[in-house]
Amino acid sequence: MKSMFPMLAVVAVLAGCASPPADLRDRAPAQPEAASGYQAKPGWRTQRFSVAAANPLATDAGYQVLKAGGSAVDAAIAVQMVLTLVEPQSSGIGGGAFLLLFDGRQVQAYDGRETAPAGATEQLFLRADGKPMAFIDAVVGGRSVGTPGTVGMLELAHQRHGKLPWRQLFAPAISLAEQGFNVSSRLHTLLASDAHLKKDPVAASYFYAADGKPHPVGHLLRNPELAHVLRLIAAHGAKGLMQGEVAQAMAAKVQGHASNPGLLSLADLAAYQPKQREALCHHWRAAAKDYRVCGFPPPSSGAIAIGQILGTLEHTPAATLALEQGLPSAPWLHLYTEAARLAFADRAQYVADPDFVAAPGGNWANLLDPGYLGQRARLIGTTSMKSGQSGTPGAMTTAYAAMPEQVEYGTSHISIVDASGQALAMTTTIEAGFGSRLMVNTGAGRSGGFLLNNELTDFSLAPRDANGTPIANRVQAGKRPRSSMSPTLVFEQPSGQLVMSAGSPGGALIIHFTAKALYGTLQWQLNAQQAINLPNFGSLNGPTLLEEKRFPGATIEALKARGHELREGGGGGARPVRRTRVAAHPKDANRLRRGGGGGSDGGLFAGNRCPG
Ligand code: DON
Repeated sequence: MKSMFPMLAVVAVLAGCASPPADLRDRAPAQPEAASGYQAKPGWRTQRFSVAAANPLATDAGYQVLKAGGSAVDAAIAVQMVLTLVEPQSSGIGGGAFLLLFDGRQVQAYDGRETAPAGATEQLFLRADGKPMAFIDAVVGGRSVGTPGTVGMLELAHQRHGKLPWRQLFAPAISLAEQGFNVSSRLHTLLASDAHLKKDPVAASYFYAADGKPHPVGHLLRNPELAHVLRLIAAHGAKGLMQGEVAQAMAAKVQGHASNPGLLSLADLAAYQPKQREALCHHWRAAAKDYRVCGFPPPSSGAIAIGQILGTLEHTPAATLALEQGLPSAPWLHLYTEAARLAFADRAQYVADPDFVAAPGGNWANLLDPGYLGQRARLIGTTSMKSGQSGTPGAMTTAYAAMPEQVEYGTSHISIVDASGQALAMTTTIEAGFGSRLMVNTGAGRSGGFLLNNELTDFSLAPRDANGTPIANRVQAGKRPRSSMSPTLVFEQPSGQLVMSAGSPGGALIIHFTAKALYGTLQWQLNAQQAINLPNFGSLNGPTLLEEKRFPGATIEALKARGHELREGGGGGARPVRRTRVAAHPKDANRLRRGGGGGSDGGLFAGNRCPG
């Protein structure tokens, strides 16, 4: 995070990364990427604009664009291109993203989610015996690769909200790719812990030394192939990626995988369409103030789940339960995780690509209706329900079976507020750490390239339940997989004043990390850093998930007494890295900071980066 003006506050907040779980419902909060250390952040203050991203080189590229008078969308493009180079494990031009933008008047939602190839069927992840493949077998190789959408989506957003020329936004990434960047400790740690990336010869020769060891921290890594691809995109727009030599290299890589080929074709790449959708906004009252919380609609499940959790809690005494010694109390955790169980039950039942699956009662907002959430809240008793059932929003009779919770793994979040007051929240991913582990190279002898996503494993691997009833989020040709990504913009009501931009990586736990940031800042009145530093908690509609060694024994015992089955997680005692990001509007800064710390007097807050 960087700012022109030392007065603006930015709180660095990094949300957990730990080892992948066998079953996310049973372990927690175990995140997709391995922990690589923790850096306490002092917080920064800025006065006119702010950019928070996962790596200082990417953040700096966004800062340079904003300083040059660029818009929030311009800055996001520069940030994303540098992230493709320096944080290749998490997001990039081979993946997908959701971008939420407040343009000063309204909130726009740009969908760059990957699509299933035209040749995909619901059998995509079934073995010969009809059973779903093991998750990692589905991930590694061509099978899991969806048609990348990030560049097409950024192009559409730039056509509508760009100020600086498209081409100019690629300059920082091209120059870094050509001149080289220093391998960060985080990238090094993740390379050392990944068992599959070096099976790809292009990735092996780029990321690893001749002895098979990952390049050491600080090693100057050049990626001339990525510079070449970025030049093509800078010159020709998304067509530079989705057509011509790069498209041919992508399709050949996916289809030519020796043991696990996929279906992505030149036609899929040429046909990809980013979409503009209507943001999903709901009212939330916190600490006696009214807010409008806006998030991304389906195919993301994030805004619905967060809105349901917050809205259900409004019908309980949760708001009367203050932090105890700076931590969420057992009674509050009981209410929160019960609300989460109910929200995740609805998510499993209903949420999928809206172009394929109808919303309950014809409108996704039915899932956020206060009357419906009031009914749901009445299901919360004094002991845990352990596992919630889906409800019937909008008097819906569902034709679908519930999707079992599946692991979700490599994501990045970018929060930006520009000098004109436009605010952006963009969550961007290639799904697992290093995605499908396939690195695309056009074959002209240049080293490096870019990684392809494994987003299709965000579909239910099993298309139907044991009775043969289809699951809404099953694979279908051209469909977008359900996501948990939760880019969020919050506004004060009735003034409409922007309060914050927030979001996080973390697979399904994104929903809890983002909800925690909202609740911590706006209900508990913490500053952004303090809110994100709270221990992680949640439930994916199974056990109650608590960050390891962060809650007192009395809290744990009190939850057990209420019938909670607990899972503490966090990766062998390692403190999960916190990577949630929050950027807040200057006018709200004093209230957000009331929890102490910072000592600043107005300005933006933002979280930033995994240790670089
Ligand atoms: O779209 C999704 O929900 C997932 N592909 C996100 C994966 C993720 O957040 C991994 N996090 N570190």
